[in-house]
Amino acid sequence: MTHRILILGGTTEARQLAGKLTRRADFSVTLSLAGRTESPVAQGVPVRVGGFGGVEGLAAYLREEHIDLLIDATHPYAARISANAAEAARESGVPILALRRPGWEPVAGDRWTLVGSVIEAASALGVAPRRVFLAIGRQEAGAFEAAPQHRYLIRSVDPVEPKLAVPDALYLLARGPFPEADEKALLEKYGIDAVVSKNSGGEATYGKIAAARALGVEVVMIRRPALPDVPSAETVDALAAKVDHLFDPVAERGV
Ligand SMILES: NC(=O)c1ccc[n+]([C@@H]2O[C@H](COP(=O)([O-])OP(=O)(O)OC[C@H]3O[C@@H](n4cnc5c(N)ncnc54)[C@H](OP(=O)(O)O)[C@@H]3O)[C@@H](O)[C@H]2O)c1
Repeated sequence: MTHRILILGGTTEARQLAGKLTRRADFSVTLSLAGRTESPVAQGVPVRVGGFGGVEGLAAYLREEHIDLLIDATHPYAARISANAAEAARESGVPILALRRPGWEPVAGDRWTLVGSVIEAASALGVAPRRVFLAIGRQEAGAFEAAPQHRYLIRSVDPVEPKLAVPDALYLLARGPFPEADEKALLEKYGIDAVVSKNSGGEATYGKIAAARALGVEVVMIRRPALPDVPSAETVDALAAKVDHLFDPVAERGV
């Protein structure tokens, strides 16, 4: 019997999870991407791209495609799709599991200023001009037009379009992972005195946080949004184990 699994992705972990699950011959795995990135990295499993059309659209997809398990492995700041996933799973009666990567915790030497949104982050930079490294992705960079007095270094996977209406912004295109040593060199090269970051968790983008700590640079940290409470695991391996258990061939035979 084939078990049909839909993974909501857009993260490295989602790709890794898909790779792991697809090794089981009785799993048919599809990975779903929002379609934000122009040239996403190869995912190694069948991919569908684009929004579903809200909760109803996702619930209809789950029914029509006879999905047996929905896995929310989206980015911790992708709050809408996570909420939609929980609701669509409830409506359609399809089980859901989530990969919830733990956030980073501040350690000795960190200078974090916690804020609730990108808008708050822009004002938390203060009135005096600063050299700011924006590493929050391109979609919300526009919020910093409200603080045009700063010099910005803006890094994203795809180009920020339109460019920010601020007098001084430099754009870097890059895809992680970003090792600490490279991040330190970057902060030093541009004389950065504030880093704006999401609390993404994981290793791939922690380099800038460690580098900021080493250099005594402030990090304006945008707090995580609230996510629905669904059964979850913190790592790819732990989630894959849950999936294996759910579709345990022995249990299914009723032995
Ligand atoms: N937000 C971040 O900082 C961030 C960082 C890295 C990667 N990502 C990835 O980028 C994608 C979009 O993030 P977001 O913050 O824009 O999401 P979002 O605000 O939670 O979602 C907005 C809408 O995009 C569609 N969508 C989002 N993820 C999808 C997926 N995996 N498959 C199909 N449709 C999806 C849904 O449209 P419908 O309602 O029409 O279904 C959703 O309502 C996600 O895949 C996420 O994992 C986000």
